[in-house]
Amino acid sequence: MKVKRAVFSNYRNIAAEEIELSSSVNVLWGLNAQGKSNILEGIYYFARGRSFRGAKDRELISFDAPFASIGVDVERDGAQYPVRLEVLLRRDAKKRLSRNGAVFSSVSEMIGNLRAVLFCPAHLSMISGSPAERRQFLDIALSQLHPEYIELLSVYKAAVGERNALLRRASSGFPVSKEEWEVYAAQMSESAAGIAKMRLEYAGELATHISSFFSDMTDGGEAPSVEYESHLLPKEREDGEPFSEDDAKERLYNKLISNLDREQAAGSTLWGVHKDDLKLSINGCDTRLYASQGQQRSFALAMKLAEGEISRKSTGEYPVFLLDDVFSELDAGRRAFIMDKLSGRQIVVTSCEPSVIPDNVSSSDVTFMEVSGGRIRERK
Ligand SMILES: Nc1ncnc2c1ncn2[C@@H]1O[C@H](COP(=O)(O)OP(=O)(O)OP(=O)(O)O)[C@@H](O)[C@H]1O
Ligand SMILES: [Mg+2]
Repeated sequence: MKVKRAVFSNYRNIAAEEIELSSSVNVLWGLNAQGKSNILEGIYYFARGRSFRGAKDRELISFDAPFASIGVDVERDGAQYPVRLEVLLRRDAKKRLSRNGAVFSSVSEMIGNLRAVLFCPAHLSMISGSPAERRQFLDIALSQLHPEYIELLSVYKAAVGERNALLRRASSGFPVSKEEWEVYAAQMSESAAGIAKMRLEYAGELATHISSFFSDMTDGGEAPSVEYESHLLPKEREDGEPFSEDDAKERLYNKLISNLDREQAAGSTLWGVHKDDLKLSINGCDTRLYASQGQQRSFALAMKLAEGEISRKSTGEYPVFLLDDVFSELDAGRRAFIMDKLSGRQIVVTSCEPSVIPDNVSSSDVTFMEVSGGRIRERK
């Protein structure tokens, strides 16, 4: 999958620009605060249906402009024509997402049309931060690959939200029937079991790829491990058989039915996949507690490279790789390693220097674009 063209209008500090992207390495370079990350954010908008920097849609509209639009032409391998994805962002109305002019009825309907792997320095917190950041990594990666995952997650999140509100009402004396609790327990356990199963499988694939990248990157000196940690799906049942989706469903259902007093006191749902984690370690030591800065960076990169490999295995083509300000923090050896691993794929990288691309990449494969004051100029 490749992005052939991106068009911006009244988006952030970009008034009106259109860029052609090459199928290999694209370097967006320029001074600080010129619009480089804005461009990546605009392209990645279609992978997630929102800004990766946590900005609200209206914050993406240029100051003083009534609306903004972003468009990308996405080419699938083997397809004759690219597909145009567009978003129109308005201050006083809902955003409008479309594909070749046909409007999507929801964001989730669009997810998967552009599959991209994004890496930026903030992703280091995936390694050292809270479980929520690692769950988000899994959710974004799985959503791009499986529309049914988006559906399960939205059913699950809605059920947890409503159930939490009910728990708080019940704790202040509002009467809630047994049947009502059972409906929520059934809804949550049904969707949670599917989510846990898909995350568990994904974590297994991640582990394989990460081990191989990591051992190359560190010359075999450091052995990483990745495990999905779920109280619904312990590794094995007592009889030694692997856990099934039905086991997970039953466990969660029983937990949610039999601990209502504790949950009402807490005012929130204490069991479920919103409590799970991806346990990461290097040489047996938890990365959250023991990994050095360099190890965190290596782990985060390995996770992103693995995300790309899994995406290709599942869809038959590589996603687009968007690297925001990643190379400036890496030594020459590691830059060369990453570029070697990404060779043959479409990459868009931002940097303050045009000279970030290591020597192992042929200069004929690199397109340089200078970004200055929201304007983009191609430079050879
Ligand atoms: N809604 C908006 N309207 C107009 N300008 C905006 C808007 N949102 C952000 N900007 C401006 O966009 C500019 C460029 O931001 P961007 O994050 O893309 O910079 P950058 O080139 O990646 O810089 P750095 O090298 O520091 O990361 C900022 O100066 C910011 O003020
Ligand atoms: Mg930036």
